[in-house]
Amino acid sequence: MPATILVGAQWGDEGKGRVADWLAAQADIVARFGGGDNAGHTVRVGDDTFKLHLIPSGILHENVVCILGAGTVINPLILMREIAYLDERGIKVIPGRLMIDARAHIITPAHLALDGASESALGAEAIGTTKRGIGPAYASKMSRTGIRAQSMGDPERFGDQLQKAVEEGNRTLQALYGLKPIDADAQIAAYVDAARHLSPFLADAVTYVQDALDAGKQLLCEGAQGTFLDIDHGMYPFVTSSSPTAGGALTGLGFGPRHVTRVVGAAKAFSTRVGSGPFPTELDGPLGDRLRGTGENPWDEFGTTTGRPRRCGWLDGVVLRAAARLNGMTELTLNKLDILSGLETVKLAVAYLIDGKRTTAMPYDLMTLAKAEPVYEELPGWSGDITGLRKFADLPSNAQTYLKRIESLVGVPVASVGVGPARDQVILP
Ligand code: GDP
Ligand code: IMO
Ligand code: MG
Repeated sequence: MPATILVGAQWGDEGKGRVADWLAAQADIVARFGGGDNAGHTVRVGDDTFKLHLIPSGILHENVVCILGAGTVINPLILMREIAYLDERGIKVIPGRLMIDARAHIITPAHLALDGASESALGAEAIGTTKRGIGPAYASKMSRTGIRAQSMGDPERFGDQLQKAVEEGNRTLQALYGLKPIDADAQIAAYVDAARHLSPFLADAVTYVQDALDAGKQLLCEGAQGTFLDIDHGMYPFVTSSSPTAGGALTGLGFGPRHVTRVVGAAKAFSTRVGSGPFPTELDGPLGDRLRGTGENPWDEFGTTTGRPRRCGWLDGVVLRAAARLNGMTELTLNKLDILSGLETVKLAVAYLIDGKRTTAMPYDLMTLAKAEPVYEELPGWSGDITGLRKFADLPSNAQTYLKRIESLVGVPVASVGVGPARDQVILP
């Protein structure tokens, strides 16, 4: 049996890390299937806050095997840093606890430089990437010129491949962007050193996952990014370069759909997005500031990876319904309900008006979405501290009504609700 796929239902940062953490308690394997260190997943355990970019959140559970799957892109220096960060906090990341699929691709120093150069060249039209080299690394993979993680098994050859990749990247930097070539010798040496440490982690994770599923083990696929950052289904080009939707879990880890029994969509009780691109329910002004928070609390809406303030707005039912359908979602988990406490009313977009026509279908292109005016339902708010509540029935009745309305709009049950960032601050079924 069974695989559970966890995906972000919005634009990322839905609290997937904390959901992965509680789902991992029942898992044997937790695997990242796409993206790289553009992700920033936060898990709060007691007084400790863990911020993970590459290593799956399952690493906080001792008996779980973690995987960086074939579909991921890996910066070996960031991975080394993350292993050291966890080690300082008493979590030993050793081979056997973490596997790197040999098929995953490497983010080279050239990819990092090209991400920055391409963003600068776009100027006002920049995508607002995390500048972690993600797009260029996937571009190399797709054009079949990338370096696979497998190469780390032969550090010297890996160094030569990196050298060539940097030379090629430099030609593009000079010819296309008119920039100076980068001198990456020191970085390449650090990559080669990292490869020596990381080569024992290399594995055929595809066969491992398939054998585990055949043996009845529980696999949790920890999504990164979010449905509307998907390369195919997001608002192109304001997307990431991978497939963060449920289909990406199958290709990114290498198993078939018959194993999937549960698809959990993580969302926030409101909407956020970092980077550019249309966002119909975005709130400028005091309400947006109220949802974002001032930055005083660790859970306020400032990027885990880049520290950028996140754009905030009301919950968008059109987005969530589309995400439920794109992912075959079986349940929704809604985080940060506590943040809405104290608002007199809460608004929920139930449809869009586009050129005067009402629709509940998510437009597929940027220009159309930019014209969408949300049709809101305004529901009465609730007050009081809900962070200590653990039962749905104990929530203020207006909060219950809000959740029920979301269920009816999206068409899947809201099975769990986050009422605070801590591991136990969750209302489970
Ligand atoms: P991810 O990328 O989807 O894992 O989400 P991030 O970790 O980037 O951002 C989610 C933020 O919200 C983190 O700071 C979490 O600790 C915090 N968070 C998650 N769930 C809740 C919740 O129910 N209430 C509050 N107050 N914070 C939450
Ligand atoms: P987690 O897993 C939020 C966004 C970037 C940018 C776009 C492209 O923490 O939810 P990229 O660097 O991937 O080429 O940037 O995608 N983005 C995220 N936004 N959460 C993330 O990950 C993101 N990963 C990428 O802000 O708009
Ligand atoms: Mg995040």
